[in-house]
Amino acid sequence: MSSAGSLAAARGHDARDALAPLRARFALPRDGGGEPLVYLCGHSLGLLPLAALERVNEELAAWADHAVQAHEHGGRPWVPYHENLTAGLAALSGARPLEVVAMNSLTVNLHLMLASFYRPQGQRTRILIEAGAFSSDRHAVTSQLAWHGLDPQSALLELAPPEGGATIHEEAIEAVLAERGAEVALVLWPGVQFRTGQAFDIARIVRAAHGAGAIAGFDLAHSMGNTPLSLHDADADFAVWCSYKYLNGGPGAIGGCFVHQRHSEAQPRTSHGGTLPGTRLAGWWGHEQHTRFLMEPQFRAAAGAAAWQISNPPILAAAPLIASLSIFLEAGMQALRDKSIALTGFLEELLRPLSAEVQILTPREPDRRGCQLSLRLVGGEQRGKRVFDALAARGIVCDWRSPDIIRVAPVPLYNRFEDAWRFAQALSETLPAG
Ligand SMILES: Cc1ncc(COP(=O)(O)O)c(C=O)c1O
Repeated sequence: MSSAGSLAAARGHDARDALAPLRARFALPRDGGGEPLVYLCGHSLGLLPLAALERVNEELAAWADHAVQAHEHGGRPWVPYHENLTAGLAALSGARPLEVVAMNSLTVNLHLMLASFYRPQGQRTRILIEAGAFSSDRHAVTSQLAWHGLDPQSALLELAPPEGGATIHEEAIEAVLAERGAEVALVLWPGVQFRTGQAFDIARIVRAAHGAGAIAGFDLAHSMGNTPLSLHDADADFAVWCSYKYLNGGPGAIGGCFVHQRHSEAQPRTSHGGTLPGTRLAGWWGHEQHTRFLMEPQFRAAAGAAAWQISNPPILAAAPLIASLSIFLEAGMQALRDKSIALTGFLEELLRPLSAEVQILTPREPDRRGCQLSLRLVGGEQRGKRVFDALAARGIVCDWRSPDIIRVAPVPLYNRFEDAWRFAQALSETLPAG
């Protein structure tokens, strides 16, 4: 390995990294002997911010000490609890505070958004997604089509990568919308593709969708906390995300959604005689807060995305996210992004000598990816799985995506350049035996 790719070089990068101290704010998983594992799996489950223990314990104590009164009293009253998350979510998604809300989980939020924004009419009935979309997104979309009495076989439009390729260029999305846009009611696209790690130009996809007269919605599961976003300026119609990956909200953490201000402003704020506005599924938590507990039959929508809430939020699943978002705000997304580009680029360079055996599916250009690299090993699925298992035996935590991809994500909040080096070293030692 060249000196630029040596352990000493990696440690040198870590020594100069102004964000390096943040690693100590997270719990690092350890092996049976107490040694920290090389954790490169933040694209699946982010690490526990230590301050999350305090945030959760505060709410358990509030429950113990104040019970029902904790809804109104205590350090963070539960009725407006989701507001503790607004500033962080708005900053990370590039939204105005009124445009974001923490609620439910990703797929549930996707259904709620589709209930509002998927309005098939006349010839315009189709939903455009990527072929190979995350299974839950596809299930959500096909079930929505069926819910509207349409045949998913014909109403779903799936755009595949070109023959032999793994990624889809934005040009191909523009081309399909130029050709078939009049049939498309809604485009649902990922911000970062879960399998390849490809990041998409959201503003460009919005322009293409809107140019064709379609709604543009996004699944940001792999984007939030990973790549810089500007949903408001990009003019996206809606977006949904989960918080257990790069946002470090913990397993089953509260998800979130973005609704562009122009949509919430266009929605009727009240309904009469028990008839809900047909454009939004409603529940009492979407009702404006100051009259919610009058329990009147009439629905009065809260301002902004908060009107899409249905139920009161899971406080214990939201508390860890407060701790994590405050670290993001302190570090600043631009500084994290700068480190992310350097760290992933460093890992890519370390893998370059292995290129005869390891194909990197993720685009090379920094603005077309986040921190994840997706690796396909030459030799097929069984060899890939053997190498993956050997890496795991050496204390490397990454993941395996069927049929043949190893995903690895050095996360700038808590990963070191040394982690990237350790991964590349373990991979080069493991390949011959694989
Ligand atoms: C891209 C993507 N979409 C949807 C989901 C489903 O999320 P949830 O189980 O929170 O609905 C995931 C989960 O990992 C995901 O990665």
